[in-house]
Amino acid sequence: MSNKSSVSEGKTSNKKLLAWVSEMADLCKPDQVVWCDGSQEEYDRLCELMVKAGTFIRLNPDKRPNCFLARSHPSDVARVEERTFICAATKEEVGPTNNWAPPAEMRETLKGVFAGCMRGRTMYVIPFSMGPLGSPIAKIGVEISDSPYVVVNMRIMTRMGSKVLDVLGDGPFIPCMHSVGAPLAAGQKDVTWPCEGDIGKKYIVHFPDTTEIWSYGSGYGGNALLGKKCLALRIASVMARDEGWLAEHMLISGLQGPDGEKTYIGAAFPSACGKTNLAMLRPPAGFENWKVTTVGDDIAWIKKAPDGLLRAINPEAGFFGVAPGTNMSSNANAMLTMTKNSIFTNVALTDDGDVWWEGMDGPPPAHAIDWQGKDWTPDCGRPAAHANSRFTAPASQCPSIDADWENPNGVPISAFIFGGRMSKDMPLVYQAFNWAHGVYLAATMGSEATAAAIGQVAMRRDPMAMLPFCGYNMADYFTHWLNVGRKVSNPPRIFRVNWFRKGEDGKFLWPGFGDNMRVLKWIVDRVHGRGFAVESPIGWMPRYEDIEWKGLDFPAKSFHDLMSVGREAGTAEAHSHEELFDRFLDRLPKEFTFERELLRSRLWRSPDRWELAREV
Ligand code: OXD
Ligand code: MN
Repeated sequence: MSNKSSVSEGKTSNKKLLAWVSEMADLCKPDQVVWCDGSQEEYDRLCELMVKAGTFIRLNPDKRPNCFLARSHPSDVARVEERTFICAATKEEVGPTNNWAPPAEMRETLKGVFAGCMRGRTMYVIPFSMGPLGSPIAKIGVEISDSPYVVVNMRIMTRMGSKVLDVLGDGPFIPCMHSVGAPLAAGQKDVTWPCEGDIGKKYIVHFPDTTEIWSYGSGYGGNALLGKKCLALRIASVMARDEGWLAEHMLISGLQGPDGEKTYIGAAFPSACGKTNLAMLRPPAGFENWKVTTVGDDIAWIKKAPDGLLRAINPEAGFFGVAPGTNMSSNANAMLTMTKNSIFTNVALTDDGDVWWEGMDGPPPAHAIDWQGKDWTPDCGRPAAHANSRFTAPASQCPSIDADWENPNGVPISAFIFGGRMSKDMPLVYQAFNWAHGVYLAATMGSEATAAAIGQVAMRRDPMAMLPFCGYNMADYFTHWLNVGRKVSNPPRIFRVNWFRKGEDGKFLWPGFGDNMRVLKWIVDRVHGRGFAVESPIGWMPRYEDIEWKGLDFPAKSFHDLMSVGREAGTAEAHSHEELFDRFLDRLPKEFTFERELLRSRLWRSPDRWELAREV
């Protein structure tokens, strides 16, 4: 890190970059400008600086070496979708699912809010690469931020520092401007988590036409670590549309069978549906000769390779995972990944200097300090960790990391899996009839969220799990998906899954976690043309005997409960797709109208309830 106050003394001769940094310094008026080199020494120094400032607490080095805990301001705990804008030239270009503002107007607004916003602070210049350095699929961004918390998190989540400037040379980069929005007056004492407390004054803004990101007022997660959702999904999805590839909210993992054959899958689930757990799955009893490897847990960039296959890279270098519920049985690999060199945000601190959250192994501690810094006991009636508390951990430390996770050419994808959280009427697994039907299934994916106010379960459609992340009109995105399938000779097979179906008693019907391997094995079998399936009105489905049950006592009756769908429920589901489609007017691909009609006619002719396992 060069402690230079002059912007021109950085380690680059890239004129555009130098001009931009200089312009931003003039606008934001920081006390000093620091170019981050990405070294361990710099990381350690910034962590120490934050320990001194009270932003970081160093965890017990015997229990979690080189790990820190941060507590955010209680108003700054999650992504702010309502303050996220895509400023394309016209409202139609961003479609009905994104917030839009006229670009010129938004630029004026941003100029106003950023003016002088870094007074009393240091402006860090953070060069980063999304994707392995120098990979033909990778993109380079430069984030300017006044948050040292952002710098150290970016060092884990991306390839960051001087080596990126070397690769960049005079080339193009994606400018990512970030401020916590809390300037300090002369002599004013800083707080441990500076941010803009008024949600209406936060801005997460994307300019797709000039590929720029501006984020103001939040220091948390996807609002502030701009390589992740802002660049690698919203901006990248626009680049992907223009360049003929896919930027998706998907995990990537490798499934290796007893004969050594490896099959890679990409799987999309809305936030908080267990993507990280699935990406790091440990095969259950009965699958001793199987191996699951992890390429990524959140984002996939997928391109057609010269060999005609769709190949995927994980643009990230770390995991920013949800902590609560993570334990040695739900995700042992994640637990082992975060034993060192990790950052924890908004989890509880135990009396022996370790971290704790709801759902961790073993009994809760008798006493802890909760995510807001208050004394906590198991009977105090408050959760110890925030529901969206996180760990930031290097992917290289993951025991299940795939040997090819940094392969610049990516890994070949054989199947796409889409799954929401549905408590009824959605079967455990089924396969699309073909690519266009699969895209339809992915686009109509729904997921339930608890509506906090009235305690009801509401379902929102979350096409491809991209609702908050698609940087352009989703109708055009559907068309793009249809086109990608047409351009590859043997497109990946497409599946829908649902781990969350409940029985009459309100309990989950499926054990989930490691046992999801049983579903994945059927998917692998189908991909390679050996798995059996029967045709149903909604897609190809496995019979009870098509699933490997070794090591699990799961009665056929329970499987029927998980798989069966009634004609009425299926028809109601097909009907409600219209609500989503109507929002896109005539921009919706024609294929979807036909797919929906085909689905309705298949349902029309089906029995009241089909129980496939008994049919054949
Ligand atoms: C995430 C999300 O943080 O999807 O990955 O919200
Ligand atoms: Mn995500």
